[in-house]
This record gives sequence, C-alpha cells and structure tokens, in this order.
Amino acid sequence: MYAYDEIDRTLVNERVSEFRDQVKRRLSGELTEDEFKMLRLQNGVYLQLHAYMFRVAIPYGTLATKQLRALAHVARKYDRGYGHFTTRQNIQFNWIKLAELPDALEDLSKVGIHAMQTSGNNMRNVTSDQWAGVAPGEIEDPRIWSELIRQHTTLHPEFSFLPRKFKIAITASDHDRAAIKIHDIGLRLIKNEKGETGFEVLVGGGLGRTPFIAKTIKHFVHGRDILSYIEAILRVYNQYGRRDNIYKARIKILVHELGIEKFSREVEEEWQHIRNSSLQIDDEVIEDIRSRFTYPAYEKLPHMPDELRQAAADPDFEAWRKNSVAPHKVQGYSIVTISLKPIGKPPGDATAEQMDALADLADKYSFGEIRVGHEQNLALPHVAKRDLPALWKALDKLDLATPNVNLITDIIACPGLDYCSLANARSIPIAQELTRRFANHELANLIGRLHINISGCINACGHHHVGHIGILGVEKNGEEVYQITIGGRADESAALGNLIGPGVKFDEVADVVEDIVEAYLALRERPEELFMDTVKRLGVEPFKERVYATR
Ligand code: HEM
Ligand code: SF4
Repeated sequence: MYAYDEIDRTLVNERVSEFRDQVKRRLSGELTEDEFKMLRLQNGVYLQLHAYMFRVAIPYGTLATKQLRALAHVARKYDRGYGHFTTRQNIQFNWIKLAELPDALEDLSKVGIHAMQTSGNNMRNVTSDQWAGVAPGEIEDPRIWSELIRQHTTLHPEFSFLPRKFKIAITASDHDRAAIKIHDIGLRLIKNEKGETGFEVLVGGGLGRTPFIAKTIKHFVHGRDILSYIEAILRVYNQYGRRDNIYKARIKILVHELGIEKFSREVEEEWQHIRNSSLQIDDEVIEDIRSRFTYPAYEKLPHMPDELRQAAADPDFEAWRKNSVAPHKVQGYSIVTISLKPIGKPPGDATAEQMDALADLADKYSFGEIRVGHEQNLALPHVAKRDLPALWKALDKLDLATPNVNLITDIIACPGLDYCSLANARSIPIAQELTRRFANHELANLIGRLHINISGCINACGHHHVGHIGILGVEKNGEEVYQITIGGRADESAALGNLIGPGVKFDEVADVVEDIVEAYLALRERPEELFMDTVKRLGVEPFKERVYATR
C-alpha cells in the first residue's frame, strides 16, 4: 500500500471545498448547466440518461479495506446500493444526487480517495497491472512509477487542457495485464544490459471510433528520464494535436498522420531541450516513493499446505481454484481473482454489502488489500494458500465465487443504453443473456480462455475491438444492430478484431456467439489450442461461413 503525505491530503481536501462551492452555485442557478459542465467534469461528474454519474479514481487499482468500505458507504448512502467497476481502474456511481455529491466526495477524501481527472481533457488515472508487486517475475513494482507520474501530472497546468483525454498504462511483467498497447502512452518496465531500470515507451494506442494498437517510439528510456520523455510527448501532442475536430483529437490520430518516425523525431528534439532539467528524477525521489509502498510481513509457509490438499477433493472448489487462483511471488501465497461476473448479472457491479464483506475478507485473508483490474474483476493479492478453502466458502456466500475468470462468461461490458446518454444499443442485457447461455461450467471450461467484450457505441468503453469476440452495438433505422468481430486481444500481443460480416439483431447475438464457439470447437487442432490461436491460424472465413450459412 502507498501512504499519502500531507501535500496530497491538503490537495484532496481543498478540492472538495472548491467543488462544494461550485455545486452550491449550480443549485442556486448562479451557474447554468453549461457553465457548470467544465467544473463538474474536472471532478468526475457526467450527466447521463437518468441522473448524474460520478466516476472515482482507484490509482493503479490498489485499495485499502477502509477505502473499499468508503466506496460501499457512498453506494449505500448516496446511490442505489451498488457501484460499477470500469475497465480503467475506476468505479462509477450511476444514481448520485448533485446536492449530495460534495458530501460523497468529502467522505471519500477522508480515506484519500478522489475523482480528480477522471474525466475531461486531461491526464486520466494512470493505470497498472492489478497484480503489481506480487506477480512472479516482474521487473519491479510498476506502481512506484505510476505513482511518480500521478504526482507529477495531477493538476499540472500544462496537462489540464489537452486536445483530448490522455491515458497512460504501465506494466512490469512479460504478460501484459494492463493493456498498455491500447493506451495513449504505454510503458513497459525493462532492464538494460547494465541492469538499470528503464522503459520501452509505446505511443498512439487507443480504441473508440478509430482504433489503433500503440507503436514503440523508444526502446529504452532510463527511469530517471521518464518524466521528461513523457512530457516531451505531451508537448508535441499539445502543440500539434487537432483541437478543431473532436474525432481526430486523440494522440493516436496525430501519430498516425505524422507517422511514428516523424513523430518520434519531434519528440526527440523536444526531449533534448528538457531532459537535463529539473524533470530529471533523483534516485532519492524514487527511493522515497518506493519506501512509501509497504508490503505485508509474509510468513514462511509450505508450498502445499494440508488444507489445500484436502480441499482438492471437492470438485466445486477445484473448479474455482483453477481459474481464480494464480501464483504469487512469495511461496505459500496466492493471488485470488474475485469474479464480478455472476451468471445473469451486469458485469462489474458490486453491491455495498459485497464491498463491505469483501473488505472484511481482505482484512482477514489478504493483509487488508484489494486490487481492481481492467477486466472489471477484483483481486485479493496476498492470500495464504492454507486459507484458500475458507476464503472460497466465504466468497461463495457473497455470490463472488463464480468459477469463470478468463472463461466465456467473464465478459467486459460498458453500461450501454441502460445508463449511457451516448449509447446506440444495449450492452448489459447482451452480457446477461450470454452468461445464461454459457452458464454450464463444463462447457465453459471445455471452451477455455475466451474473452467477450461488449460496447454500446463506437466509443468502445467495453473494449470491443480487443475482445477475442467483440460485440459493438450500433443503431440502424431505429433498431439496435450488433457488429461482431473476432481475433482481438488486449495483452502483450494486442490486436484488433476483424468483422465477420453484416450486423445482427439483438435477439440473434447469443445464437451467433454460439455458432462461433461451435465452429471453434470443431476447428481447433487440439483442446489446448485457444480460440484466439484458431482464429489467427484460420482467419475469419470459416467462422463467417458458419454464422451466415443459415442467416
Ligand atoms: C456511462 C458513462 C460513460 C460515458 C459518457 C463515456 C464516454 C466515453 C467516450 C466519449 C469515449 C471515447 C473517447 C475518445 O475516443 O476520445 C470513451 C472511451 C472509453 N471509455 Fe467511456 N464512457 C462512460 C463509461 C465508461 C465505462 C463504464 C467504462 C468501463 C466499463 C468506460 C471505459 C472507457 C474506455 C476504456 C475508453 C477507451 C477508449 C480508448 O481507448 O480510446 N467508460 N468513453
Ligand atoms: S461505449 Fe458508448 S454506450 Fe458504452 S459507455 Fe461508452 S459511450 Fe456509453
């Protein structure tokens, strides 16, 4: 966990009282909704279909139990008893009342949580691997660097009015769990030949209307230079980014139009001016941040405790363990993923009761820490293996032990037409129907790793382009139509999916997905060949044939 200092606490508190005044002026009519818009967006407040929506940041996805309890409290006291975890380590509340928003923010500020820069054209929450600090084999804890960038960019005047929103993600593992290639800047921690820490820097990734996979702009930037290098990229973007056309304003369009070579030359030139300035980071600064991250006092535990050996006889426990429990860097411990995808429910939602109960379980079994991942699931990062059976039983009672992590019902979905004013189609009901169709665990297990991602419009909040099966809702002649892509992925081999053919109606989506899955089961060379590998090997054609032969 990271310990915030006095500067951070003051900043967050001042922000709350400033916003309280702004809300007061809106409620009295002194500010019009239009005048208020800029101010509310700076504090994570959107105006949606039915109500205001409030987006709260969870920096690098790390939560202390008192913070999770504060989120539960906000859900219970100011909303309708639940919150929605998103794909960017945020949580959204859909039914917040404007008059109560300052109180909600104040309650969160007491535990060091805020909503700064969760919307607007600025640097958004810097995201990272939800297994940071505990994943075996990582270069070092990527949150140290996320935190450095967070401190540098929070309320930084130069980044407050960018051409468009700006997102940075960091990973330190070979397997990318932070989806860095679909971010404006993606950073991959590496070591050079001298053993020094640095970054491969990628730029220009993003989804939305015009999706791009990020390109490498520099193979190695030393850790001490990372702020100046990021700043050089942002300066070039700030200068040349299109402010005249919202659809062309993201850095991915600039990189695409200039070409990565020309773009990187511009950045290099800018960087040479600023790299030896005060932006160069002293080792002490990094050491100070590093020292503020505390790690649990792990015990010396056996690799295979008796409790785990005995529980292995229970097939239900084993089904859950196989996809929810991952190796930890410390022997005798595990990382446990908590599925927020129960069959038939909206993906990513958690009730106040679940959040409170999960906080209790994290205190009991995970040194008081919870993580939030980009796939809309949570994790307990430090669970002793001997506690796994007891934890599983407790999670099951809370409907938080669905054994579907990474399986076909572990669906990412945006709120779509149920909440979102920009939506063209529903997302949540599609996800619900698909989870019912594939509720049979044996079948889901037979299919293996398969991610379905759903968005209700081209903004791509549900990451549909990078779903192994991607579903995009569009509107055609007043009707919801769904375009289906296959072959996308968001990991270290990130790729955009390919369209399989004409869009299909709401009622047909689940049938089409079933057809695709059946085709895959028939086409795979062996049971271990994953869906995405079969698609890579054979392309879209055989799937297209199967889906449209009878339509
Ligand atoms: C309901 C309120 C929401 C609104 C109004 C909204 C709006 C938008 C818009 C306009 C974009 C496109 C930005 C661009 O291309 O420049 C976008 C992108 C995105 N949103 Fe949302 N969003 C909402 C909720 C969510 C939720 C719930 C999630 C997660 C489940 C999410 C995750 C994302 C992500 C990951 C992108 C990335 C697209 C990219 O890489 O370019 N948003 N959102
Ligand atoms: S993808 Fe579209 S419908 Fe879905 S949340 Fe984003 S803006 Fe709304």
